[in-house]
Amino acid sequence: MSRKRSASSARWLAEHQNDPYVVEARKRGYRSRAIFKLEEIQQRDRILRQGMVVVDLGAAPGSWSQYARPLLGPSGHLFALDILEMDGLPDVDFICGDFREQAVLDALQAKVGARAVDVVLSDIAPNLSGIGTVDQTASIYLCELALMFALENLKPGGTFLVKVFQGEGFEGYLKQVREGFSQVTIRKPKSSRPRSKEVYLLARSRRPV
Ligand SMILES: C[S@@+](CC[C@H](N)C(=O)[O-])C[C@H]1O[C@@H](n2cnc3c(N)ncnc32)[C@H](O)[C@@H]1O
Repeated sequence: MSRKRSASSARWLAEHQNDPYVVEARKRGYRSRAIFKLEEIQQRDRILRQGMVVVDLGAAPGSWSQYARPLLGPSGHLFALDILEMDGLPDVDFICGDFREQAVLDALQAKVGARAVDVVLSDIAPNLSGIGTVDQTASIYLCELALMFALENLKPGGTFLVKVFQGEGFEGYLKQVREGFSQVTIRKPKSSRPRSKEVYLLARSRRPV
């Protein structure tokens, strides 16, 4: 590792360890500070409810699933997917695989079966190469796949929450989401680092096909 790279890694580590959201997540037994982004959106927008069928894309290490599963109650279902392995969580049906691969998508679709999906969550973010344009293209591609999955599987009226990075392709993506959903809002949760270009699109009322 270069000296410059290791200095920035050390800075990241120090910042991460002192981050109040990291400390609070640990205290509450959550696997990641990402929990607070979903929690803030849930408290404001009430997207998750008892009995719902929910798919969590890019789920590892699992804080969104940890938070969402109890809200769905015993009659709800939560399907989670990540390219990385994830420690098991009670009543969470997890698939490990690359969402870009048709076989993985088929496996997820087979698990969901004929259930009408109420909510698709996507916090997927690609492994960063450090090259801005490459990372942005990879990220928008994953968002497009998540949108396609949502449009194919959500019931009319269903909800799609997706993390997107602002930059090249963002406006075009927003337009595609607006075509599929009648109510689309951009959310920037307080726990999302201000310098990060990430925002969440909350797309409600999937239009009937
Ligand atoms: C920000 S993390 C998600 C954090 C998660 N919401 C939580 O609360 O713990 C993004 C995840 O996207 C996953 N990911 C990236 N590319 C993927 C792909 N092609 N298929 C499936 N998952 C992918 C990463 O492995 C990573 O775990």
